[in-house]
Amino acid sequence: MEKIVLDIEKALGRGESSFALTKEQVYAQADQATACNKTLENGTGKGYDFLGWLHLPSSITEAEIADIQETANTLRSKCEVVVVVGIGGSYLGAKAVIDALSGTFDNYCHCGLDPQTHPIIVYAGHNIGEDYLHELSGYLQGKSFGIINISKSGTTTEPALAFRILKKQLEDAVGKEEAKTRIVAVTDKARGALRTLANKEGYKTYVIPDNVGGRFSVLTPVGLLPVAVAGIDIKQLIAGAAAMEQATGSEVPFENNPAEIYAATRNELYKSGKKIEILANFHPKLHYVSEWWKQLYGESEGKEHKGIFTAAVDFTTDLHSMGQWIQEGERSIFETVISIARPTYSVEVPFDEQDLDGLNFLAGQRVDHVNKMAELGTQLAHVDGGVPNIRIEIPELNAYYLGQLLYFFERACGVSGYLLGVNPFDQPGVEAYKKNMFRLLNKPGY
Ligand code: PA5
Repeated sequence: MEKIVLDIEKALGRGESSFALTKEQVYAQADQATACNKTLENGTGKGYDFLGWLHLPSSITEAEIADIQETANTLRSKCEVVVVVGIGGSYLGAKAVIDALSGTFDNYCHCGLDPQTHPIIVYAGHNIGEDYLHELSGYLQGKSFGIINISKSGTTTEPALAFRILKKQLEDAVGKEEAKTRIVAVTDKARGALRTLANKEGYKTYVIPDNVGGRFSVLTPVGLLPVAVAGIDIKQLIAGAAAMEQATGSEVPFENNPAEIYAATRNELYKSGKKIEILANFHPKLHYVSEWWKQLYGESEGKEHKGIFTAAVDFTTDLHSMGQWIQEGERSIFETVISIARPTYSVEVPFDEQDLDGLNFLAGQRVDHVNKMAELGTQLAHVDGGVPNIRIEIPELNAYYLGQLLYFFERACGVSGYLLGVNPFDQPGVEAYKKNMFRLLNKPGY
């Protein structure tokens, strides 16, 4: 099997460009990056009690996978639609994988187990939109549906609110007893309102380990259960992640260790004034991989008044909007581009007798060739414009390589956070809005 490839060559200045980071500067961080990686492995750094994600790919058992698959099969057999209820780290990983591997128009998985029979996955509890919930209820009307309710704390307002509404709709539609067989809770082993409710109602439950934070939980049942329900091969996802766990271990020399190189490069760029990292893809199905990545790095590093601001764009779409800013706006950005070497399908540009659109020069070429030239042209333009460019190439868009990509980003995030000097595993800043909201809503105790 191949590996995803990291290329930092175009992030390094060569005199003619307006950024000056050198390979020597990046490699000068090798010892420190490796030390940070060792600190992760030894569990001696900040947030050491949240390192359970580190060896998830290599430690998950066949029995755990089989149990998740069995629950997924039950939901697949009973439901036309499954609603995944969760917010932040409790839904973004699943959505990233499911969107990447499902059809753009039919929503069915194209790279997994059984493309014919699995349910449509929809999401709730990631906003407080009344219209959203109204429309979701309308969409579910008359359909057989189930719910996967995911909340580590079990007390987060957005998913709790959505679940209350959806639970009632499901019970009204199929009765309380049948509803219990279509609801699965993924939460803390003992604490929180969701745990209390699940125990009382007798829902099937999965535990989010104490030592795995939300944004690092995609390879726990938080991500694996919805992904399996969508018909995606979770064994392949885990196998890819396990290959990357090996490839990014602290014993792997810096020059061969993509997680350490990525972490060192982005930290050096940050020190040189590049305060914003834009994750760009040339494949619309990766949109939510970027959303997941934004949370992973933004929530892990944005603290103590420091940290790279994470942004994301979909190319070529956003070249027609944000392209101007990226080319000529303030030079405080660098780009990390995710490229897919071989698309799943092949579409050729047809020959046209009249050629009124002037595209016959492309006749017989694959659309992906045009996309790749757009990518190369963009890279040249942006580098010329003073935007350092890191490139990550995925051989193909399937569960195995996505597993590699997700783990690569997680591992690099841990190393990067330690290089920056923060605790990458806490999120003290997210409580502030909640306190105000509860006070404004007159919640008892606030
Ligand atoms: O990464 C995180 O910790 C957050 O994004 C949480 O996952 C999110 O706030 C949801 O929390 P919970 O799973 O407790 O409902």
